[in-house]
Amino acid sequence: MEIKHAEFISSHDKVEKAPQPDKPEFAFIGRSNVGKSSLINMLTGRKNLAKTSGTPGKTQTINHFLINQTWYLVDLPGYGYAKISRDKREGFGKMIEQYILKRENLYCLFILLDMRLEPQKIDLEFIQWCGSKEIPLCLAFTKADKLTRNQLNKNIAVYQSTLKQTWSELPAMIITSATEKTGRDEVLLFIENALADAT
Ligand code: GTP
Ligand code: MG
Repeated sequence: MEIKHAEFISSHDKVEKAPQPDKPEFAFIGRSNVGKSSLINMLTGRKNLAKTSGTPGKTQTINHFLINQTWYLVDLPGYGYAKISRDKREGFGKMIEQYILKRENLYCLFILLDMRLEPQKIDLEFIQWCGSKEIPLCLAFTKADKLTRNQLNKNIAVYQSTLKQTWSELPAMIITSATEKTGRDEVLLFIENALADAT
């Protein structure tokens, strides 16, 4: 699929204020600094569509981007960032939870995982929670450019064996790099198929 048009629509701190749920949407979640906003920019081919930063905690709201006038990409705040106040962190947690549970037009939630790290407790718990709520998932590994092919394969294998302990059928997994545009076609094909399946 080609992205011909990408437009920032809105930024809100509550799911209730988000645009009417009248179009399919695909959202990006994961720990702060994992590369959610960068992946959205890479997919759309627009350097600064979503705001990125080397400092964790950049995205603090629910951001909607309208793609090809027909579906949304959604950039969410990260979870698990320790250096913000507890109140704020709990607020983000609530916002994300409400978004995931209430957004009826959410076709798929991409959970982003930093490829360089072994499976982190907070990510595994989050994946598990989404599974228990039957949220359609795709796991997107980020920052693949930082690893050799051998390391990539090794780290993916560890993830697969860890998830197999609790999942009978593993969610789709896509390796990405925002800097090298790795995985762009795979993510867009995944979205294209999800859109086609629903019609
Ligand atoms: P929050 O909004 O704070 O939750 O972070 P985020 O998940 O949106 O991360 P963001 O896209 O802002 O990227 C965080 C940092 O990681 C930035 O310095 C990016 O340049 C860097 N980064 C993101 N993706 C990649 C990647 O694929 N490869 C490399 N090398 N760096 C990346
Ligand atoms: Mg961000």
